[in-house]
Amino acid sequence: MTPGILLLALLGGCTGDAGGADTGVCGHEPALTWANFGQGWMDKHCIGCHSSLLRVDQRNDAPVGVDLDTWEDAVTWGERIGARSLGEGATMPPGGGPSEEERRLLSEWLECAVLPAGEAE
Ligand code: HEC
Repeated sequence: MTPGILLLALLGGCTGDAGGADTGVCGHEPALTWANFGQGWMDKHCIGCHSSLLRVDQRNDAPVGVDLDTWEDAVTWGERIGARSLGEGATMPPGGGPSEEERRLLSEWLECAVLPAGEAE
């Protein structure tokens, strides 16, 4: 399985119908974007360790270069964000924290905005 297919399996697959209000994975109104969702999620849950603004000794061992400050970062790391933050075995953030609803929205944003942007590049 390619990583892309694995992530789609993890996210439950897209049921299509992007225009439907409450049907389909991409039904959120307004559509989830970096500005109205992703940035806030990363600020709250990830950049305490994954920010280019942190010194190496402030990153709590988060790998140097795995930064989640910008939309471009999100596109670069989209598949790994999903792999580490969604599903039964989610390991990011390491201490937990995001509610089930927050994780559901993350999966929608990844599938409907981030991964398509990555594929378009
Ligand atoms: C308390 C510090 C901390 C926070 C907060 C944190 N991480 Fe991490 N992250 C780490 C550490 C340490 C590693 C390296 C060890 C590992 O991979 O488990 C890492 C590694 C990663 C990697 C690279 C490894 C891979 O699997 O590709 C990704 C991607 C990642 N984290 C995503 C996230 C996301 C998304 C969030 C927010 C939901 C987050 N992290 C929050 C500490 C943190």
